[in-house]
Amino acid sequence: METIAPHGGVLVNREVAGADRDALLARATSLPVVTLDERQLSDLEMIAIGAFSPLKGFMGPADYNRVVNEMRLANGLPWTIPVTLAVSTEVGESIEPGSDIALAEATGRILAVMTVEDRFTYDKSHESEKVYRTTDAAHPGVAAVLAQGDVLLGGPISVVDRPSNPDFPEYRLDPAATRAAFAERGWRTIVAFQTRNPIHRAHEYLQKCAMETVDGLLLHPLVGATKSDDVSAEVRMACYTEILDKYYPADRTLLAVNPANMRYAGPREAIFHALIRKNYGCTHFIVGRDHAGVGNYYGTFDAHHIFREFAPEEIGITPMFFDHAFFCRVCGGMASVKTCPHGKEHHVFLSGTKVREMLQAGEAPPPEFSRAEVARILIGAMRDAAAAQA
Ligand code: ADX
Repeated sequence: METIAPHGGVLVNREVAGADRDALLARATSLPVVTLDERQLSDLEMIAIGAFSPLKGFMGPADYNRVVNEMRLANGLPWTIPVTLAVSTEVGESIEPGSDIALAEATGRILAVMTVEDRFTYDKSHESEKVYRTTDAAHPGVAAVLAQGDVLLGGPISVVDRPSNPDFPEYRLDPAATRAAFAERGWRTIVAFQTRNPIHRAHEYLQKCAMETVDGLLLHPLVGATKSDDVSAEVRMACYTEILDKYYPADRTLLAVNPANMRYAGPREAIFHALIRKNYGCTHFIVGRDHAGVGNYYGTFDAHHIFREFAPEEIGITPMFFDHAFFCRVCGGMASVKTCPHGKEHHVFLSGTKVREMLQAGEAPPPEFSRAEVARILIGAMRDAAAAQA
């Protein structure tokens, strides 16, 4: 039983096993080596395991240009974020299109062979403007584009080994594994929740509202690179396991990690996040306020509006849109702008900065904002970080 077809119809698997792997690895040792950074390694893993289906490698110019300009792959499928392999001009010039290269991690360990079909230049400020809606170098997604090399290499990859990822092995479920888990549990409808933050009550409210209407929840925190002031994946996972254990039904919840990087591309990333979760077998996807946003670059609900630019059937996975959620003291419970008639003065609202200040001072935010268990873990993590710095 398959819940939903992957994007493009087929779940990509770019991993090579057995004798083929041995042969490829042997050949790879004589190829020119390109060393990947953290973000590129994460993209490599996402491609390898089919989380980026239908991508089989890093984008060439046909896909890249259409994605940047029209939010579609060259074949017309919706796709909103470029997945590219940027190298320096010097490295780029040393690689002829049509040749194979080895992709390695910083230790020198070879992970994949890539057939370089295309080598091309690109306009960083055009990409930034289209994808991130800004060219401001203070935007973390734009900063990453500006920092990367000036030449892009495109072509399919064949992966012999995954990047060394010692973290959360028990939660590293590939799309094929989450699909199998859903089938085993008999779930036909699954809502995915993307997050890069510790769980707070509004997250829990969104998840549980959605869970009322579907068979199961895939709690899918992103654990690839995030900006430096985001809470570490390790601490976030500690919050999740604690809260799941105490407040969620085990037979309706699955926790797994999403190895992707955060791009902070707001609306475009909401579509990207949804397509990735479709590949993991989810039928529904939660999009709340300022999804994947950062600073004030995006309107609070731009990530909802962007879905209107596509026909629902071409996205496939069903978005579940949520308005701003909070605890209302008059309602006496969690609510949102859609369900609560009371004024802002009755709502428990704390800015991210305020929460950070409280936690740093060892003070727990009110339980209406954050469960005590989560506050305890976050305060402990802040203390540990402060002690390590002292
Ligand atoms: S994100 O970058 O992954 O979007 P975060 O982990 O904060 O950041 O949010 C996870 C999901 O919850 C997103 O869909 C976001 O829009 C939603 N969300 C977070 N806080 C709220 C809130 N108070 N009200 C409504 N939606 C929210």
